[in-house]
Amino acid sequence: MNSFQIVGPMIRLLDAEKAHTFTLWCLKKGLAPSQKQIDDPVLKTSFWGREFSNPLGLAAGFDKNAEVVRPMLALGFGFTEVGSITPLAQPGNPKPRIFRLTEDKAVINRMGFNNEGMESAAKNLADTRRDRLNGVLGVNLGKNKDTAVALDDYKQGAKQLCRYADYMVINVSSPNTPGLRALQDRKELEVLIKGVQLTLREEMGEKAPPLVLKIAPDITEQDKEDIAAVALELSLDGLTITNTTIERPSHLRSVHRSEGGGLSGAPLFETSTKVLFDMYRLTEGKIPLIGVGGISSGEQAYKKIKAGASLIQLYSALVYYGPPLVTQILEDLSCFLKQDGYNSVSEAIGADHR
Ligand SMILES: Cc1cc2nc3c(=O)[nH]c(=O)nc-3n(C[C@H](O)[C@H](O)[C@H](O)COP(=O)(O)O)c2cc1C
Repeated sequence: MNSFQIVGPMIRLLDAEKAHTFTLWCLKKGLAPSQKQIDDPVLKTSFWGREFSNPLGLAAGFDKNAEVVRPMLALGFGFTEVGSITPLAQPGNPKPRIFRLTEDKAVINRMGFNNEGMESAAKNLADTRRDRLNGVLGVNLGKNKDTAVALDDYKQGAKQLCRYADYMVINVSSPNTPGLRALQDRKELEVLIKGVQLTLREEMGEKAPPLVLKIAPDITEQDKEDIAAVALELSLDGLTITNTTIERPSHLRSVHRSEGGGLSGAPLFETSTKVLFDMYRLTEGKIPLIGVGGISSGEQAYKKIKAGASLIQLYSALVYYGPPLVTQILEDLSCFLKQDGYNSVSEAIGADHR
């Protein structure tokens, strides 16, 4: 029995947000296990001029204020993404705003970008960056609820935080900020991406971090085509696919299934993998994709890679399976890759399209 099998059920007695706050506290106090092993060389991958010792990352939303980068990398993740960070601190939506759908191995959240703002994040990131990091660090940007011109917020976030980021994400896909997902429309997207690219170039020139766009699963075929066209036209560096869904599949069993917000975890796997598959096809495999949504096993991680993901992320499964899941997924993923005769994870990317 691992320690999570003892502590996990106790943490789950707390309501979901208290459990999260307690978990962050433990991580900050150094009470989490260090599980980082030397990764199997088959898992090593590199692009954007960055080396990833393995392709599995922690998705945005867990470490909104960039407080636990090192402890999360120590769990074995190859990379971690902090945020979403907005220019100004904001409290987010009234509580309760996270729900465990235990029977469905899912989560619904309507946090609403609660975070301490970019100045606080910059301080934490500067501390984190003082020594070399054992992994890659992404910084995910959001907009404040009351900001009228979204571009201003993304530009401010990019300007203030780019020097700490190995890659940056513009998140236009959270369902919990009114109007945010409308930024996925073609015209809006073009303006947004061009604007942030310009800011990054002005700040850091050639050394600017790669820019990634995070999209929702609830998009039409036309949206997919538009996003792919804009991504190719503007030489976007990556797409993260996907955020949480506003759909509620009819098979959900939990009493919380009708709560408002974004659904993540197991019920999101099929939908998000389909969007990933489609976006790989539409972008002709030319843009690195980060596959996220419902991963809780090595087999699912492998499916995302074969559908077109260069990197993968998870969040909700950690709620149910805890830290041991990270090393379990990596071990199983290496086995699947070797069984199929791959020498490296990059050879398997998009295999389902060939
Ligand atoms: C409680 C919670 C908060 C989240 N907050 C953010 C966020 O601030 N920014 C973001 O881009 N995604 C956020 N996400 C979405 C995750 O990054 C991820 O895209 C989604 O949960 C699907 O992955 P999963 O099924 O492995 O959880 C959040 C997810 C959860 C469960």
